Amino acid sequence: MGWNSWNKFACNIDEKLIREIADVMVANGMKDAGYTYINIDDCWHGDRDSLGFIHPDPERFPSGMKALADYVHSKGLKIGIYSDAGSQTCGGRPGSRGYEFQDAMTYAEWGIDYLKYDWCNTEGLRAEGAYKTITAALKKAGRPIVLSICEWGSDKPWEWAQDVGHLWRTTGDIYNCFDCIHDHGTWKSLGIMQILDMQEGLRQYAGPGHWNDPDMLEIGNGQLTPAQDRAHFSMWAMIAAPLMSGNDLRSMDKNTLEVLTNPGVIAINQDSLGIQGFRHLVKDSVECWLKPLEDGAWALCYLNRSTEVKTVSIDWQDLQVTDEHSNRQFNPGKTPYKIRNVWTKKDMGSVGKKMTHSLAGHDVLMFKLSI
Ligand code: GLA
Repeated sequence: MGWNSWNKFACNIDEKLIREIADVMVANGMKDAGYTYINIDDCWHGDRDSLGFIHPDPERFPSGMKALADYVHSKGLKIGIYSDAGSQTCGGRPGSRGYEFQDAMTYAEWGIDYLKYDWCNTEGLRAEGAYKTITAALKKAGRPIVLSICEWGSDKPWEWAQDVGHLWRTTGDIYNCFDCIHDHGTWKSLGIMQILDMQEGLRQYAGPGHWNDPDMLEIGNGQLTPAQDRAHFSMWAMIAAPLMSGNDLRSMDKNTLEVLTNPGVIAINQDSLGIQGFRHLVKDSVECWLKPLEDGAWALCYLNRSTEVKTVSIDWQDLQVTDEHSNRQFNPGKTPYKIRNVWTKKDMGSVGKKMTHSLAGHDVLMFKLSI
């Protein structure tokens, strides 16, 4: 869990912003809710010196990366940086190709805890080999650094990256809309629902320490309605996705902060079993998702994909399922699970009697069911 600069700020970043984000993350309760990483994305770079060492942009990061890392660490948080396996980053800054070991050493010296490693300008490279090179370099550098593989799922990293990185992007970039595709000409970015659908078939590859990454959150970036914000956060929780906030934490409204710090939803996302949830049933544009949790509990989430209000009738008997992947049984016909609505934060008795709910368009109904 953490924050990343890209979705809101793109290349418009500097050390003042990063320090302020770290301050706010502590002050507003996000750190206590579990957010840990402050990740600087593309465009922090200056030039390489005559010996090949990379330096931050001297105007935007005049105090240097070591000082910034020290500051973030002094707040009890961790710091991430960004590079690219190719000759240049996607934003045209120096990439790490040919400098992998030197860059990893530099990051370790600065005190970096997380590296997002992108895939632009990699002509002639094979993804698996390129990512194994940076893994070896990070290992040699001797500092534990999370490796976030960002090759957009092109070469199926879920099939080879389990011991290479800690998370891998499964898709192209997220776009700040609930249900759309944005065409940039040479590439497309994807709405929340499009990305969600592309996670189908990938759950067996994810688990503790090696996660599918459906990209960073767009919550609080001004395009989604409060219901869509809830749905985005809930679905990323249901699929055990990394939770990287991507908004301006300094100026967000109360609703955004409440979504990002909802303790029940975060607990479902961070559950120690680390099992990615699955779409169980679909009826009249309402999807029913399940996620096995520790202590025999389950998360249950209804997602209304339509823009109209739908009536959700929950007949517990009908929901029974055996999850082959986790070898866990959800059996509300036999097990009297206790129900908690994680968004309203209300306990609602036990399963048994049919329940009916009205669910607004693009909204979710999310329960934790415990024994
Ligand atoms: C790619 C990545 C994004 C972001 C940008 C930065 O598009 O997928 O997440 O890091 O590059 O240029």
